[in-house]
Amino acid sequence: MPGILKVNRLTKSFGKVTAVHDLSFEVEGREILGIIGPNGAGKTTTFNLITGEIRPDQGEVIFDGRDVTHLQTYRRCRIGIARTYQIPKPFLNMTVLENLLVGAVYGGGMPYRQARDSCEAVLDKTGLLPKRDAIAGSLTLLDRKRLELARALATKPSLLLVDEVAGGLNEGEVEEVLEIIRSVRKDGVTVLWVEHIVMAMTKGPDKVLVMNFGKSLFCGRPEDAFRSQEVQRIYLGDEED
Ligand SMILES: Nc1ncnc2c1ncn2[C@@H]1O[C@H](COP(=O)(O)OP(=O)(O)O)[C@@H](O)[C@H]1O
Ligand SMILES: [Mg+2]
Repeated sequence: MPGILKVNRLTKSFGKVTAVHDLSFEVEGREILGIIGPNGAGKTTTFNLITGEIRPDQGEVIFDGRDVTHLQTYRRCRIGIARTYQIPKPFLNMTVLENLLVGAVYGGGMPYRQARDSCEAVLDKTGLLPKRDAIAGSLTLLDRKRLELARALATKPSLLLVDEVAGGLNEGEVEEVLEIIRSVRKDGVTVLWVEHIVMAMTKGPDKVLVMNFGKSLFCGRPEDAFRSQEVQRIYLGDEED
């Protein structure tokens, strides 16, 4: 499935700040594209433009051969675009399963019965089945990360945007996140994954897009990205959160 997502000359400014600047890239179906770049590089804004949470000043977003640039966010979700948030906002007083059901029914537009079966499968995939009835607010950090992925997966996306889900986890836990993302891809989902953790970005993605000042600096194999002098330079002295 070539070219499931095409981002074509996207530009978005906030006042004097051009957060995304003439950005173009393409993602093939079933690919994992890593996106790296210093804080403020425009990674999250790019996700917001792909999901429709903000509109570009210029450029277009083509999903599955369709121009979705002016489509409302909930419609983009219905046709298969889902995301996680850098700052997750689960329904803390609801159970894990209930959180997923909200995603499946309201985000994915699934009838309740179908949503229930589908959510059980997502819980299994993300390792949350034992926590199915736990209150979301009581989860450990790793389980909260799993829940953030699971809530997005509950909408049954064909394109999943992951925004810094592995931050704060230890190496073994990052491996677990990596495993979930690999298995999601095995199911046919295309993944865009923003992450600062080098290990995650060298082991997960097929390709890595390097962003700086809203622009694409490099797009290619992860090992080449991290070998590039320019990439090393923009990371030097950049204290990431
Ligand atoms: N809603 C907004 N209003 C004003 N400025 C914003 C807004 N969203 C992002 N920015 C600015 O755009 C730039 C890119 O931000 P962002 O896309 O969040 O970067 P990243 O995710 O790569 O850290 C930053 O300078 C940020 O302050
Ligand atoms: Mg961000």
